[in-house]
Amino acid sequence: MKRILITGAAGFIGSHLAERLLERGDQVVGVDSLNDYYDPALKERNVSAALEHDAYSLFRDDICDSGRVFEIFELAQPEVVVHLAARAGVRPSLADPNLYHRVNVIGSQHILDACRSASRLSHLVFASSSSVYGGCTDVPFREDHPVNRPISPYASTKRMNELQAHVYSHVYGLHVTMLRFFTVYGPRQRPDMAIHKFTRLIDAGEPVPMYGDGLTARDYTYIDDIMDGVLKAVDTPFRYEIFNLGEHATTPLRDLIEMIARHVGKPARIEQLPLQAGDVAITYADISHAQELLGYRPGIAMEEGIARFVAWYKDTQA
Ligand SMILES: NC(=O)c1ccc[n+]([C@@H]2O[C@H](COP(=O)([O-])OP(=O)(O)OC[C@H]3O[C@@H](n4cnc5c(N)ncnc54)[C@H](O)[C@@H]3O)[C@@H](O)[C@H]2O)c1
Repeated sequence: MKRILITGAAGFIGSHLAERLLERGDQVVGVDSLNDYYDPALKERNVSAALEHDAYSLFRDDICDSGRVFEIFELAQPEVVVHLAARAGVRPSLADPNLYHRVNVIGSQHILDACRSASRLSHLVFASSSSVYGGCTDVPFREDHPVNRPISPYASTKRMNELQAHVYSHVYGLHVTMLRFFTVYGPRQRPDMAIHKFTRLIDAGEPVPMYGDGLTARDYTYIDDIMDGVLKAVDTPFRYEIFNLGEHATTPLRDLIEMIARHVGKPARIEQLPLQAGDVAITYADISHAQELLGYRPGIAMEEGIARFVAWYKDTQA
């Protein structure tokens, strides 16, 4: 049994993680501001099952408030911290880069400082992103590829996080594992993300905006596979490591839309639009580093994952 603090605990990935840790007998302290980036009622629904559990508590606080972050760490006495709280999303980061900097960089600095002085802490697991690879087309992406050319404010904040964490590992001996998530999907996926948005639009018979020619491709990772990687990172401290967590498979955008339409059982009315600033041509994870050091074994192929997602979506609408 471990005491684990999760920031961003009411979000898509954080709420799944809290439930998985509770199931296996860990004590979980969540921190989340439940902000309105998307409907806070969805976040309330995400945490409702965990809140039933005696071993769970949730602080509804903002990581930008450094005093509060320290108080929570003092109360929680975490052995492992999983830092997921962030402003996510590439396109909105172009509209408000200051907000992204404040939450993702300065807020994360508060988490690093609190970790540094947390006396029982074994290590920090920190959410990075495939977006750090920028416009790189040398696929599959390996962790040792140069990542000095991000193409959105969101991506640059995630790369800054890797650098901030490295400093704390080097100078203060903080043990940190950075996980570069590759487009995660599954039940509770953020409503602004493509798979969730396309499912909603196809089901409602509304046009589906397709940016570009439909050939841009993503490595989509099912939430259960991400949980496999995160749980292994929670259980295995490293001084400083970066891991790609993807499926090591890509799906072109047009194929994705057609696959969702097939599972929803309705046609997709595609509306082709120009590529957007910040969009990358491809993401594709080389996962051999995570396989070797973490024992990471993703196993849910797209067809199966989309079937499960659409089934969940239909359930929530019923
Ligand atoms: N979902 C993906 O495909 C994906 C891909 C790469 C990286 N990531 C990263 O994984 C993490 C989790 O992503 P997600 O998809 O679950 O997003 P999410 O938006 O569902 O979850 C993030 C949570 O953080 C909370 N939060 C945001 N700002 C906060 C603040 N200032 N103080 C306290 N809480 C705050 C939000 O309320 C939200 O509940 C993020 O760091 C994201 O950048 C996600």
